[in-house]
Amino acid sequence: MDIKSIILAAGKGTRMKSNTPKVLHEIFGKTLVGYVLDNVKTITNENFVIVGHQAEEVEKYVKNNYENAKTVLQTPQLGTGHAVSRVCPMLKNYKGLVLILCGDTPLITEATLKNFIEFHNTQNSDLTVMSTIFENPANYGRIIRESDSTLKCIVEEKDATPEQKAIKEVNAGIYCINWEKVQPAFSQLTSNNAQGEYYLTDIIEWGKKNKLNVNAYIMKNNEEIFGINSRLHLAEATRIMQKRINEKHMLNGVTIVDPSTTYISADTEIGQDTIIFPATYIEGKNKIGKNCKIGPCAHLRGGVEISDNVKIGNFVEVKKSKINSNTNAGHLSYIGDSEVGSNVNIGAGTITANYNPLTKEKSRTTLKDNVKIGSNTVLVAPVTIEEGANIGALSVITKNVPKWALALTRSPMRVLTDWVKNQLK
Ligand code: UD1
Ligand code: CA
Repeated sequence: MDIKSIILAAGKGTRMKSNTPKVLHEIFGKTLVGYVLDNVKTITNENFVIVGHQAEEVEKYVKNNYENAKTVLQTPQLGTGHAVSRVCPMLKNYKGLVLILCGDTPLITEATLKNFIEFHNTQNSDLTVMSTIFENPANYGRIIRESDSTLKCIVEEKDATPEQKAIKEVNAGIYCINWEKVQPAFSQLTSNNAQGEYYLTDIIEWGKKNKLNVNAYIMKNNEEIFGINSRLHLAEATRIMQKRINEKHMLNGVTIVDPSTTYISADTEIGQDTIIFPATYIEGKNKIGKNCKIGPCAHLRGGVEISDNVKIGNFVEVKKSKINSNTNAGHLSYIGDSEVGSNVNIGAGTITANYNPLTKEKSRTTLKDNVKIGSNTVLVAPVTIEEGANIGALSVITKNVPKWALALTRSPMRVLTDWVKNQLK
């Protein structure tokens, strides 16, 4: 089936009070629009992201991260209906389905979108809108139904009468449309409303007037619909995402000692019998093996690949690194841009100095199998420690160290006999 998506991401996000475009705000190192784009990956063959406010930044992000997405400029931003209409020239003779989503609704899942499309197809629907029930429906568009409970229209909060405001069924902002049938609506929308905008929501009433088959798909789990308009919403969405992800891992055989203080990104895989200790923060894309111990207070920053039986202890930060099996980094370390072998011991306080602030370049550190790094060592990258070599504590390692050697840079210890006693005389 030919399905394309339109993802709305041109709005200003005024309520975020931010210099960052709303859809580029992040949850565990992934942007809000990134979650939406990842969810449609297996469903659609082409995606259009509508950009406008701070368009360049959003465009750059989408281009760098999502091959099958095109950005379409909307200037000025005259509303959600106007946003979708920008794609009309590109889909002139298109006859398939279009899934419309908002870039600020990251909690929706791929499974729900698949069920939604299936519902659209089995109902022989021309236009399906996703709705849900909120005890506190404030800010959302309300679903207005006829006395026979069929759909009538959607009314935005700002346009709603007190009676309409009491309605708890709201518009999720997600639509599935037969493009050929609904496309004419986009040149007929008007901006005769409280916000002076061309509302996408008006396609419901338009569809009814034009005798289309218009339906609502009521989504039971309203958490997935949660749209982010403020920092309060962002924190709430982060909490929901945290709970969802932690539950998935625990059901897969990972022990999470304290789920409420453990944060794991959506793109992190974790093997069975690994234990995640409290106050651990894992962002970006990572792969953690079986029987590992992570934390307490560990920070994995993305691009981290850890094999089985690895220990990443308290106050250890790891970024863009590969760590092989049976290796320990137990305490107070930074491991960045590194390749670490098996059976390596990284002593407390070891730092990979991977960044040159003058050239702004990052360099790699390689620790081969069976290497032992003494406490408080600085490994100045680029540097390679060959198999089995040992580094004495408190060393600053600026050159490669050959196999099975001992390298150390600290000054020899001196003992001045009775020195203190002599001072006190
Ligand atoms: C919108 C819906 C509302 C629904 C809610 C669900 C309309 C008129 N209202 O309200 O019924 O309950 O979403 O979360 O559609 N955008 C553009 N161009 C524009 C304006 C907005 O691309 O000109 C984008 C925004 O970046 C955002 C999305 O559209 O990603 C929704 O806009 P927003 O202003 O957040 O609409 P809501 O007030 O939340
Ligand atoms: Ca919104």
